[in-house]
Amino acid sequence: MTLPTPIVLDCDPGHDDAMAILLAAAHPAIELLGITTVSGNGSLEKVTYNAQRICALANITVPIARGANDPMAGKASAAPTIHGATALDGAELPEPTFKLSPLSAVELIADLVRNCDRKVTLIPTGPLTNIAMFLQAHPELHDRIEHISFMGGSTERGNWTPYAEFNIWADPEAADIVLRSGLPLIMSGLNITHQALATSEVLDRISKLDTKLAHTIVDLLKFFADTYRDVFGMPDPPVHDPVALAIIIDITVAKLVSAPVSVELTGELTRGATVVDLHGTTGQKANVDVAMELDVEKFWNMLIDAIAALGA
Ligand code: BDR
Ligand code: CA
Repeated sequence: MTLPTPIVLDCDPGHDDAMAILLAAAHPAIELLGITTVSGNGSLEKVTYNAQRICALANITVPIARGANDPMAGKASAAPTIHGATALDGAELPEPTFKLSPLSAVELIADLVRNCDRKVTLIPTGPLTNIAMFLQAHPELHDRIEHISFMGGSTERGNWTPYAEFNIWADPEAADIVLRSGLPLIMSGLNITHQALATSEVLDRISKLDTKLAHTIVDLLKFFADTYRDVFGMPDPPVHDPVALAIIIDITVAKLVSAPVSVELTGELTRGATVVDLHGTTGQKANVDVAMELDVEKFWNMLIDAIAALGA
């Protein structure tokens, strides 16, 4: 029997981060060791509270630790135009049912990685601050990391500035540390996550599960759909973050291409843009497996089965 893949989910919930938490907790191929939070979609306080409330909603009990308040350089910003004032608007959520870990995110990740009997995969779905700080603080644990599969960047244009995607834009210095780490990296950028659309058919399928959890998710995704329609004119919202985890669950859910990826740190107009060399023009060595094409049906089956498995 294949053992489940042990992961730590580092997130900034966020509607799509919430979906990644549910998938991580429910999928039999995954052992969710812990959740760490980072300021991104909202302040650290808000996103941590949201992670706790999602866990309460779905009866998930794993350690949750608070991470970075601010990026490595400069000050945190938020995305209320997309996720609302609470960073997770759209539904009533229960209050947290257990206390946060007394450890910082970096120390919880270190602790979980050190004590796991297998190599651990990190799934960052927010700015990469905690992950970069962990890599800097614990070089002795680098060889205990199986993969870092992150949502961020794009092979194309951005969503927060014309060329930068939000998570990478929010902490480009951290992204640079991760991209230069030499560890096995998988990037799910906008070019693939914009294929993971929560269409009305998807919402109907979730609704039909007819659990409190399913109805809450539909309410959250409807809020997300409204903001995506208002801000980007997209008819359906892309549920970005679970893509990074779905690839770890089943590698065949996406087509991956190895390529050199770097991040623009100094560009006056392009700070935070990922530069993905798909045609080998830079002559650099490939450092990332870049996710290109999503098996949309497989992806949604995975997510909907996970929501069904959680019951609640
Ligand atoms: C990313 O930014 C956030 O708003 C989402 O949660 C996702 O991680 C998409 O650019
Ligand atoms: Ca996120």
